[in-house]
Amino acid sequence: MAFKTNILLSLVLVFAVPLMVNAFVWNVGDAAGWSSQTPYDYTYWSMGISFLVGDDSLRFVYDRNTTNVLEVTSADYISCNATSPLAAYNTGNDTIQ
Ligand SMILES: *[C@@H]1O[C@H](CO)[C@@H](O)[C@H](O)[C@H]1NC(C)=O
Ligand SMILES: *[C@@H]1O[C@H](CO)[C@@H](O)[C@H](O)[C@H]1NC(C)=O
Ligand SMILES: *[C@@H]1O[C@H](CO)[C@@H](O)[C@H](O)[C@H]1NC(C)=O
Repeated sequence: MAFKTNILLSLVLVFAVPLMVNAFVWNVGDAAGWSSQTPYDYTYWSMGISFLVGDDSLRFVYDRNTTNVLEVTSADYISCNATSPLAAYNTGNDTIQ
């Protein structure tokens, strides 16, 4: 019985830890990183995650020679218009809240 209680407590702790952390940095694409060259389903990647807007950050890791990150408005995203980005990143390793 004590053994079972310990397992239950361990599970509770494991699941409770992420809830106590205010800010989490998500590596976009996990190990695949951020790339337009490699086929990767970023929509599928993001479906499994509950992002805490205002707390969490997205980290984009990519080859800066071939790729960058542009932050655009929702309307510009939908119309695929990157002429006036809100922000542009090109270090190859950018963390954006
Ligand atoms: C990016 O370009 C620089 C300068 O040409 C080169 O040294 C570096 O290896 C390149 N990085 C990648 C990931 O190809
Ligand atoms: C893209 O956005 C810019 C700046 O908001 C705007 O001037 C331009 O007309 C837009 N282009 C298209 C094709 O919608
Ligand atoms: C990106 O930057 C973070 C924070 O500075 C660092 O911990 C991480 O190792 C870097 N990742 C790569 C792939 O350079």
